Amino acid sequence: MSDEVAQPDVAVTMGTEEVFEPSEEFRAAASFADPAIYEIAEADPEGWWESWAKHLEWSEPWSEVLRWDAPWAKWFVGGKLNVSANCLDRHVAAGNGEKVAYHWVGEDGATRDVTYRELLATTEKLANVLKDLGVEAGDVVGIYLPMIPEAPAAMLACARIGAVHNVVFGGFSAEAVRERMATSNAKLLVTADASLRRGEPMPMKAALEDALTQLPELKNVVVVDRTSALEGASDVDVPMTEGRDVWFHEAMEAAHDFCEPVALDSEHPLFILYTSGSTAKPKGIQHTTGGYLTGVSATHRMVFDIETDLDVFWCAADIGWVTGHSYIVYGALCNGATSVMYEGAPDYPHKGRFWEIIQKYKVTILYTAPTAIRTFIKWGREIPDGYDLSSLRLLGSVGEPINPRAWLWYREVIGGERCPIVDTWWQTETGQIMISPLPGITATKPGSATRPFPGISAAVVTSKGEIVEEGGGFLTLRRPWPGMARTLYGDPDRFVKTYWSRFGKDVYDVGDAARIDEDGYFWILGRTDDVINVSGHRLSTMEIESALVSHPQVAEAAVIGQSDEQTGQAITAFVTVDGSADPDDAMKTELAAHVAEKIGKLARPQRIIWSDDLPKTRSGKIMRRLLRDIAEGRELGDVTTLRDPAVVGLIADRVAAGEED
Ligand code: WTA
Repeated sequence: MSDEVAQPDVAVTMGTEEVFEPSEEFRAAASFADPAIYEIAEADPEGWWESWAKHLEWSEPWSEVLRWDAPWAKWFVGGKLNVSANCLDRHVAAGNGEKVAYHWVGEDGATRDVTYRELLATTEKLANVLKDLGVEAGDVVGIYLPMIPEAPAAMLACARIGAVHNVVFGGFSAEAVRERMATSNAKLLVTADASLRRGEPMPMKAALEDALTQLPELKNVVVVDRTSALEGASDVDVPMTEGRDVWFHEAMEAAHDFCEPVALDSEHPLFILYTSGSTAKPKGIQHTTGGYLTGVSATHRMVFDIETDLDVFWCAADIGWVTGHSYIVYGALCNGATSVMYEGAPDYPHKGRFWEIIQKYKVTILYTAPTAIRTFIKWGREIPDGYDLSSLRLLGSVGEPINPRAWLWYREVIGGERCPIVDTWWQTETGQIMISPLPGITATKPGSATRPFPGISAAVVTSKGEIVEEGGGFLTLRRPWPGMARTLYGDPDRFVKTYWSRFGKDVYDVGDAARIDEDGYFWILGRTDDVINVSGHRLSTMEIESALVSHPQVAEAAVIGQSDEQTGQAITAFVTVDGSADPDDAMKTELAAHVAEKIGKLARPQRIIWSDDLPKTRSGKIMRRLLRDIAEGRELGDVTTLRDPAVVGLIADRVAAGEED
């Protein structure tokens, strides 16, 4: 990270100084209402996490809570357990087999209530399918599925036999799947014939065909039939290669019913999940069994103050992101909660879809992203006002900074001024929520994630690593926690370099800027590295640049995140084309399609600015700060260190004149 990008992109207006205390009513009903929890955890963090680990079912106890050889952590050393047994079998054994794990709502309006018993049965059979196809403990299994109950079942089936899942978000392209399968040496992929997009099937399996031929390590593909039975939907082509591809339903029919969960070492890898970093190559964040499950179940229980017999929890994220992993699947199931799982978009077939679902299932806790809230604001309050949202008792936010205006709207319009809001800050790397209010304890300020979760140590530091008591700087985490990433798959050096070097090998460098206020409250301001956050989706500027320059007519490209009222940040690309291309609208469309093919539609630039040259330092580094200033029409800062100071003036003039083409 250079000093040049030390300033965050996202400006959060502090706005209101209003403070909201939890209501007496909420506090009285809350399981966690005693602020002493913070002191107890702080006095003995290891003992604190150990008390949470004891809520899990272990087949062998641990001999040591934490072995910390910075930056390498081992939690619950020597302990053995199985994640799927903790998420399923023990609830069924306790007599809760008929309890609903997921109220599933399909995009097409289909619904399915999946009980814990049913989810266990599917998981066991699917684990046998994987075993029959030769998958063994430690093997990597890719999962590229829509939001259907088979997705959590596939994750749990892997966990049952010790295979390591690698879920790829359904919005990523075939090329992104190929890259993630290749770099993780995946042996098998679970996918679907198609996903649904506004009522129409979008082929998944067929789109993967080319990619699959380039994956010699990948022996089998299991294909879920999502769409063939849908009335009125067009048929999709599903090429099946004999010996490699099998239909999910056929393989399931042939598989045995029972599959013993394997007792796995606490540090056995549970999954890898690729996320974007400062380079073009995504990072395979690796999480483990015992610590991760402890971290996500503890935070799910406390941050949402969940009462599993009363609550209906809806985490409206996608399973392809860490939020889905931790709070749709592992945290929620481990706690025996009932969740809603929704396959589609918030505006299909109409803009009241979320509120209709909340009304129907009497959802008590909604956990969603600020970008969704801002979209609802734009659509107008008449839409949610038309539904009965009185079942809601708690609201959550995740994925990006929430601006105070959106926070206040969420509280008033959705929460009826009765529901506390938990703004939860965390990352793929942290595995679990790290900074968040506890709703029965913490007074909230709109836009602040408030305080570190009990047992977590966070601080804002200067670029030299000195702790800032009050003011802005770099966010750091200063003590290991059970859900922390253990390494980057296949690249431990990059793990150390990226996270555990800048401020010392025992201080985790988050990559976010933050401000700490006079009450010790944290205000997350945004990324300080070359990562941008579009609608809560984390993307790397370098990855998009490398996709752009892989187009034969692109000579050079620089990508920045530009503030956007709707999506938080939007992608702006400065592109230099070679002499054979016409920099016109047709070329813009072509480049957007090219990026969609390389990464996914979510990475398409919203704005392309043609430029003959890019502002660079004398050493050849692109000055992104200047590009951001140009894109947002700000006064340009110091340009004297540029190799060719005239360049910025030329681009800025062009942008100002609206002559981007
Ligand atoms: C941002 C998502 C402000 C932050 C769970 C972080 C947030 C990145 C918040 C991680 C929040 C996440 N307030 N910013 N409540 N939650 N972020 O890995 O920049 O997809 O570093 O994990 O999202 O994104 P990731």
